[in-house]
Amino acid sequence: MNFPRFALERWQSTYENSVEYNLSESGVHPLTVGELGIPQENLAKCRLGYGVSNGTERFRSLVASLYKGATERNVLATIGAAEANLISILRLLEPGDEVAIVLPNYMQTYGLIQALGGRIVPIWLRPEKEWLPDPEEIASRIGPKTKLITFCNPNNPTGSVFGRATINALAAVADRYGSWILADEVYRGAERIGEETPSFWGEYPKTIITGSLSKAYGTPGLRLGWVLASEETIEEVWSYADYTKIAPPALSDLVGCRVLEQRDRILERTRRLLNQNWPNLKNWLDSRPGLFEYVPPKAAAICMTRYHARINSSVLAERLRVERSTLIVPGDQFLLDGYIRFGFGNEASYLLAGLQRVGEMLDSVR
Ligand SMILES: Cc1ncc(COP(=O)(O)O)c(C=O)c1O
Repeated sequence: MNFPRFALERWQSTYENSVEYNLSESGVHPLTVGELGIPQENLAKCRLGYGVSNGTERFRSLVASLYKGATERNVLATIGAAEANLISILRLLEPGDEVAIVLPNYMQTYGLIQALGGRIVPIWLRPEKEWLPDPEEIASRIGPKTKLITFCNPNNPTGSVFGRATINALAAVADRYGSWILADEVYRGAERIGEETPSFWGEYPKTIITGSLSKAYGTPGLRLGWVLASEETIEEVWSYADYTKIAPPALSDLVGCRVLEQRDRILERTRRLLNQNWPNLKNWLDSRPGLFEYVPPKAAAICMTRYHARINSSVLAERLRVERSTLIVPGDQFLLDGYIRFGFGNEASYLLAGLQRVGEMLDSVR
């Protein structure tokens, strides 16, 4: 089986801890364990045996409480949304199946579908439409052969948010042909403005939702996520997880419960960081007329930015890394050359210093 290189993850995991300025991250500045106020004795008492295979009941109940009508039996704990997406695709996809994938997107599902012999029907979001799906266009690309429709909402890399009307329309399209929906909602809760992103949960029975504590919560190092689906589908997906991890780490489950118990406070911090930093990035982009075009992101600490300079995005990103020790994500890694994705979830002084290096680089190539 041939897995295509997951360019974005290889790029970030190779360099994000070695550059001086990492502007490639899509989540907010991570929390420390100390900031979660976990009593020392609880940590000390945590026994490091195998954790509970599908996640502790407490963790699953806390996750279920984020989705109307869900119970802990609808939840399977995973190693991040990454494992959640993997085992969901393993459950749903057979070689030769047609999969409609809304792009641009985090390219994990795209690569997995290719590796497992799925046939991809790309459906592109466009900046002229604020990176929002056109349900009519989607309806015209879906048919009886469509096994699965997959998207992420809020969207990576554009930060757009599909609202309730779009979700209803997507559910209606899937229902027409009995297609599955795989909705990656890992950025739900990281809205910079507006209400919390509506979940796909409860719209349509053949739905799998994936999520995690990585992005909106600022705790990616816990590597804790979930699959949310009907009880029957959870049982099926769980049997793949026996092969991929046995159980989520007990320590992460314990800390993860504490994160979810303080959800409101943590999401407030996330929103504060996003709103403190967005004006810094926006002002910087706007101070270079003619160079950049962007749609302001509604959620996630990312801005997909078109640049007007004659240089390929991967070449630009590599030169920035090597010559200025600054990491951004080249649009190439989302199949969108001519763009770069800025992450702005870090502290303001760090962001501004990193942006200065990007500016110097662009000035030198213009
Ligand atoms: C849309 C999307 N899904 C899943 C993931 C993986 O997240 P996790 O850290 O929860 O495994 C990412 C990471 O960037 C992402 O952007």
